[in-house]
Amino acid sequence: MKQIDFTELKQNPAELIGKQWMLITAGTPDKFNTMTASWGGLGFLWNRPVAFVFVRPNRHTAGFMDEQAAFTLSFMPEKYRADLIFCGRNSGRDVDKMAATSLHAHTTPNGLVAMDDADLVLECRKMAVATMQEGDFIDFAEVSPQWYDPTNPLHKVYICEIAATYVR
Ligand SMILES: Cc1cc2nc3c(=O)[nH]c(=O)nc-3n(C[C@H](O)[C@H](O)[C@H](O)COP(=O)(O)O)c2cc1C
Repeated sequence: MKQIDFTELKQNPAELIGKQWMLITAGTPDKFNTMTASWGGLGFLWNRPVAFVFVRPNRHTAGFMDEQAAFTLSFMPEKYRADLIFCGRNSGRDVDKMAATSLHAHTTPNGLVAMDDADLVLECRKMAVATMQEGDFIDFAEVSPQWYDPTNPLHKVYICEIAATYVR
Protein backbone atom coordinates (compact mmCIF):
# COMPACT_ATOMS: atom_id res chain seq x y z
CA MET A 1 0.00 0.00 0.00
CA LYS A 2 1.13 3.56 -0.47
CA GLN A 3 0.72 6.30 2.07
CA ILE A 4 -1.09 9.46 0.95
CA ASP A 5 -2.20 12.65 2.62
CA PHE A 6 -5.81 12.27 3.83
CA THR A 7 -6.85 15.27 1.69
CA GLU A 8 -5.78 13.33 -1.43
CA LEU A 9 -8.37 10.61 -0.77
CA LYS A 10 -10.28 9.94 -3.99
CA GLN A 11 -13.05 7.74 -2.56
CA ASN A 12 -16.41 9.12 -1.53
CA PRO A 13 -16.71 8.86 2.30
CA ALA A 14 -20.49 8.36 2.10
CA GLU A 15 -20.00 5.38 -0.16
CA LEU A 16 -17.03 4.06 1.80
CA ILE A 17 -18.81 3.98 5.13
CA GLY A 18 -22.45 3.58 4.13
CA LYS A 19 -22.07 1.06 1.31
CA GLN A 20 -18.63 -0.53 1.43
CA TRP A 21 -18.65 -0.62 5.26
CA MET A 22 -15.44 -0.92 7.28
CA LEU A 23 -13.67 -3.26 9.63
CA ILE A 24 -12.66 -1.68 12.91
CA THR A 25 -9.62 -3.59 14.11
CA ALA A 26 -8.24 -2.97 17.56
CA GLY A 27 -5.73 -4.63 19.85
CA THR A 28 -2.14 -5.72 19.42
CA PRO A 29 -0.60 -8.01 16.79
CA ASP A 30 -0.74 -10.81 19.40
CA LYS A 31 -4.34 -10.21 20.47
CA PHE A 32 -6.81 -8.21 18.46
CA ASN A 33 -10.39 -8.27 17.27
CA THR A 34 -12.22 -6.90 14.28
CA MET A 35 -15.87 -5.96 13.69
CA THR A 36 -17.91 -4.56 10.84
CA ALA A 37 -19.18 -1.00 11.16
CA SER A 38 -21.24 1.24 8.91
CA TRP A 39 -21.93 4.12 11.25
CA GLY A 40 -19.36 6.88 11.41
CA GLY A 41 -17.76 9.59 9.35
CA LEU A 42 -14.60 11.16 8.01
CA GLY A 43 -13.89 14.87 8.23
CA PHE A 44 -12.04 17.54 10.12
CA LEU A 45 -11.96 18.63 13.73
CA TRP A 46 -9.44 20.72 15.64
CA ASN A 47 -7.83 21.38 12.23
CA ARG A 48 -6.95 17.71 11.92
CA PRO A 49 -8.31 14.99 9.69
CA VAL A 50 -10.55 12.82 11.84
CA ALA A 51 -12.59 9.66 11.70
CA PHE A 52 -15.46 9.11 14.10
CA VAL A 53 -17.14 5.81 14.70
CA PHE A 54 -20.11 4.76 16.82
CA VAL A 55 -19.59 1.51 18.67
CA ARG A 56 -21.81 -0.06 21.30
CA PRO A 57 -19.88 -0.74 24.52
CA ASN A 58 -20.95 -4.38 24.57
CA ARG A 59 -19.00 -5.17 21.39
CA HIS A 60 -15.94 -7.30 22.08
CA THR A 61 -13.98 -4.91 19.86
CA ALA A 62 -14.89 -1.97 22.14
CA GLY A 63 -12.78 -3.45 24.93
CA PHE A 64 -9.72 -3.45 22.67
CA MET A 65 -10.52 0.08 21.46
CA ASP A 66 -10.69 1.26 25.06
CA GLU A 67 -7.42 -0.41 26.05
CA GLN A 68 -5.29 0.89 23.17
CA ALA A 69 -4.42 4.42 22.08
CA ALA A 70 -5.21 3.70 18.43
CA PHE A 71 -7.01 1.34 16.06
CA THR A 72 -7.48 0.96 12.31
CA LEU A 73 -10.30 1.17 9.80
CA SER A 74 -9.97 -1.16 6.80
CA PHE A 75 -12.22 -0.74 3.76
CA MET A 76 -12.38 -4.02 1.87
CA PRO A 77 -13.10 -4.87 -1.79
CA GLU A 78 -16.54 -6.29 -2.63
CA LYS A 79 -15.26 -9.88 -2.71
CA TYR A 80 -15.03 -9.76 1.09
CA ARG A 81 -18.73 -8.88 1.54
CA ALA A 82 -19.58 -12.26 3.09
CA ASP A 83 -16.69 -11.89 5.53
CA LEU A 84 -17.88 -8.43 6.52
CA ILE A 85 -21.36 -9.82 7.15
CA PHE A 86 -19.80 -12.60 9.23
CA CYS A 87 -17.74 -10.13 11.27
CA GLY A 88 -20.89 -8.07 11.81
CA ARG A 89 -23.01 -10.97 12.99
CA ASN A 90 -20.56 -12.87 15.14
CA SER A 91 -18.57 -11.87 18.16
CA GLY A 92 -14.88 -12.42 18.69
CA ARG A 93 -15.90 -13.66 22.14
CA ASP A 94 -17.31 -16.78 20.45
CA VAL A 95 -15.33 -17.23 17.23
CA ASP A 96 -11.89 -16.57 15.84
CA LYS A 97 -12.84 -14.29 12.95
CA MET A 98 -9.47 -14.64 11.29
CA ALA A 99 -9.84 -18.43 11.19
CA ALA A 100 -13.50 -18.34 10.15
CA THR A 101 -13.12 -15.91 7.22
CA SER A 102 -10.76 -15.28 4.33
CA LEU A 103 -9.47 -12.17 6.07
CA HIS A 104 -5.80 -11.85 6.95
CA ALA A 105 -4.23 -9.25 9.17
CA HIS A 106 -0.95 -7.39 8.97
CA THR A 107 0.88 -4.97 11.19
CA THR A 108 1.12 -1.40 9.92
CA PRO A 109 4.40 0.55 10.07
CA ASN A 110 3.14 2.12 13.30
CA GLY A 111 2.46 -1.24 14.91
CA LEU A 112 -1.32 -1.34 14.49
CA VAL A 113 -3.28 -4.27 13.11
CA ALA A 114 -5.13 -3.84 9.80
CA MET A 115 -6.57 -6.08 7.10
CA ASP A 116 -4.60 -7.30 4.10
CA ASP A 117 -5.95 -6.52 0.65
CA ALA A 118 -7.92 -3.46 1.81
CA ASP A 119 -8.64 -0.65 -0.66
CA LEU A 120 -8.02 1.84 2.12
CA VAL A 121 -6.58 1.63 5.63
CA LEU A 122 -6.81 4.50 8.11
CA GLU A 123 -4.73 4.56 11.25
CA CYS A 124 -6.82 6.25 13.93
CA ARG A 125 -5.39 7.79 17.08
CA LYS A 126 -8.06 8.31 19.74
CA MET A 127 -8.59 11.93 20.73
CA ALA A 128 -11.98 11.89 22.46
CA VAL A 129 -14.35 9.14 23.56
CA ALA A 130 -17.83 9.75 24.88
CA THR A 131 -20.85 7.62 25.62
CA MET A 132 -24.06 9.02 24.20
CA GLN A 133 -26.50 10.07 26.88
CA GLU A 134 -30.27 9.89 26.64
CA GLY A 135 -30.49 13.53 27.78
CA ASP A 136 -28.38 14.70 24.82
CA PHE A 137 -30.97 13.56 22.27
CA ILE A 138 -33.42 16.10 20.91
CA ASP A 139 -36.04 13.39 20.68
CA PHE A 140 -34.85 10.15 22.27
CA ALA A 141 -38.25 8.53 21.77
CA GLU A 142 -37.88 8.96 18.01
CA VAL A 143 -34.77 6.76 17.75
CA SER A 144 -34.81 4.59 20.84
CA PRO A 145 -37.56 2.09 19.91
CA GLN A 146 -35.58 0.96 16.87
CA TRP A 147 -32.04 1.24 18.17
CA TYR A 148 -31.83 1.11 21.95
CA ASP A 149 -33.04 -1.29 24.61
CA PRO A 150 -31.39 -3.04 27.57
CA THR A 151 -29.49 -5.42 25.28
CA ASN A 152 -28.56 -2.68 22.79
CA PRO A 153 -26.92 0.07 24.87
CA LEU A 154 -26.23 3.63 23.78
CA HIS A 155 -23.22 3.97 21.49
CA LYS A 156 -19.84 5.28 22.39
CA VAL A 157 -18.41 7.77 19.92
CA TYR A 158 -14.70 7.55 19.25
CA ILE A 159 -13.24 10.66 17.61
CA CYS A 160 -9.78 9.95 16.25
CA GLU A 161 -7.07 11.76 14.41
CA ILE A 162 -6.32 10.04 11.13
CA ALA A 163 -2.62 9.50 11.72
CA ALA A 164 -1.97 7.71 8.43
CA THR A 165 -3.88 6.98 5.22
CA TYR A 166 -2.86 4.01 3.06
CA VAL A 167 -4.35 3.20 -0.34
CA ARG A 168 -3.66 0.48 -2.86
C1 LIG B 1 -23.31 -3.94 8.05
C2 LIG B 1 -23.10 -3.88 9.54
C3 LIG B 1 -22.77 -2.67 10.12
C4 LIG B 1 -22.56 -2.57 11.50
N1 LIG B 1 -22.23 -1.35 12.04
C5 LIG B 1 -22.01 -1.26 13.37
C6 LIG B 1 -21.61 0.00 13.94
O1 LIG B 1 -21.40 1.00 13.25
N2 LIG B 1 -21.45 0.05 15.29
C7 LIG B 1 -21.63 -1.04 16.10
O2 LIG B 1 -21.47 -0.94 17.33
N3 LIG B 1 -21.98 -2.25 15.58
C8 LIG B 1 -22.16 -2.38 14.24
N4 LIG B 1 -22.48 -3.60 13.69
C9 LIG B 1 -22.61 -4.77 14.57
C10 LIG B 1 -21.25 -5.42 14.95
O3 LIG B 1 -20.43 -5.55 13.82
C11 LIG B 1 -21.55 -6.79 15.56
O4 LIG B 1 -22.27 -6.64 16.76
C12 LIG B 1 -20.32 -7.65 15.76
O5 LIG B 1 -20.73 -8.98 15.99
C13 LIG B 1 -19.45 -7.19 16.91
O6 LIG B 1 -18.36 -8.06 17.00
P1 LIG B 1 -17.43 -8.18 18.31
O7 LIG B 1 -18.32 -8.55 19.48
O8 LIG B 1 -16.46 -9.25 17.95
O9 LIG B 1 -16.80 -6.84 18.51
C14 LIG B 1 -22.69 -3.72 12.32
C15 LIG B 1 -23.02 -4.95 11.73
C16 LIG B 1 -23.21 -5.03 10.36
C17 LIG B 1 -23.55 -6.37 9.74
